Amino acid sequence: MKKTPSRKAWSGRFGKETDQLMERFNASIGFDRKLYRADVQGSIAQARALRRAGILSKAECDRIVRGLRQVEAEIAAGKLPLTDDLEDIHMAVERRLTEIVGPAGGKLHTGRSRNDQVALDERLYLREAIDRIVSLIERVQGTLVDVAGAHLEAVMPGYTHLQQAQPILFSHYVMSLFYALERDKGRFRDARRRADRMPLGSGALAGTAFPIDREGLRRDLGFAGLTENSLDAVSDRDHLLESLAAAAILMAHLSRYCEDLIIWSSSEFGFVEVDDAFATGSSMMPQKKNPDALELIRGKTGRVYGNLVALLTVMKGIPLTYAKDMQEDKEPLFDTVETLERVLEVFARVWETLQVREDRMRAAIQGMTLATDLADYLVRKGMPFRECHHVVGGLVREAVARGEDLRDVPFEAFRERSALFGRDVYEVLTPERSIALRDAPGGTSRQSVRAQIAKGKRLLRKIR
Ligand code: ARG
Repeated sequence: MKKTPSRKAWSGRFGKETDQLMERFNASIGFDRKLYRADVQGSIAQARALRRAGILSKAECDRIVRGLRQVEAEIAAGKLPLTDDLEDIHMAVERRLTEIVGPAGGKLHTGRSRNDQVALDERLYLREAIDRIVSLIERVQGTLVDVAGAHLEAVMPGYTHLQQAQPILFSHYVMSLFYALERDKGRFRDARRRADRMPLGSGALAGTAFPIDREGLRRDLGFAGLTENSLDAVSDRDHLLESLAAAAILMAHLSRYCEDLIIWSSSEFGFVEVDDAFATGSSMMPQKKNPDALELIRGKTGRVYGNLVALLTVMKGIPLTYAKDMQEDKEPLFDTVETLERVLEVFARVWETLQVREDRMRAAIQGMTLATDLADYLVRKGMPFRECHHVVGGLVREAVARGEDLRDVPFEAFRERSALFGRDVYEVLTPERSIALRDAPGGTSRQSVRAQIAKGKRLLRKIR
């Protein structure tokens, strides 16, 4: 029985055409087309390695390389129809190449499998994606340094449990995000370092039977090293998992800071105002201006977490080595990368254009936030801290009962609690004084924040 010619590279083994339903279900070309540049880059390196191994002649290699560049250009221009029957980007590139260069194109896959090919493509994609993400994080950090510098002296209430705790500098708050992002960058760089291993030459799982010069491939593709074990090389998606985990932690950070800005932009707080260009209105309530950019970033944290959990779950039960389950690694990866890129860009712009209401922040500070300073005052006069805490606690309780602020407590009331109180007690009861005293490195004093900003600038310069 003669079969109708199939477009599938593996159709030799099959007696029937693939069911249309299965074809659609199996195809990854709808999303892995994003890997086309990586696939062409890897294929060019593969052609050169085959040339060095004597499997391709120089003329064949040159034609293949030119052909691959043409395929890349056609895909970039949207001229190559990438239909489901092509299955995935690897097959699509090879098929079009063979149309262009003839049977020599069929030699390109010698000693290579889609298993080491996809492992390579994803590593190439990931390295570039991480570089883009890291530079976007740095853009945010650059903005934060500018905002902190522009509002260096602005004072505000610092919170724990969303209750006023102690006065802080707004710039200190801003720099807290800078250093959280610095760790996020470190996590991405770490993942990138481990992804920086060249897997070609692993074949389907057991390695390649041809004299493929893996070291040459490594150099050609600019990897730091080679994967050490072919079974591991085609099975490993750790670098994707690590990157998705780094992304999830980054989003957790961004989400918390968005939450603060959302609360602070309410009329009750009014500490900040999101620029009109990054807010939206209500279809019904004319007065509304909503901080949607921040809410969307907070909301998108959910899908980034979901992508991590999706891939962890995909990977958890796959017997070594490759199984088609692993095709499910791509959409969470692409979605995370694209989400992060958009989120970081918007987040940077929101901070760049944020209006900071220093007067509202200053006015919001309640005198009670100076209770610690009052206790510290007694410590300096020689009283053990626990006792001071108790004394001040009593003063606070009375003041609260009278509806008074700590700053309004009459001198006699202080003296009743302790003879150590002098007239100078009122001097410690200002936010500026409280802040200035916290001048250990990492504290909220102006000098400390200045040092944080200077170090931040150095960190940014070093990397750029
Ligand atoms: N599209 C496949 C994937 O993304 C490529 C690898 C296919 N390998 C195979 N043995 N069927 O995982």
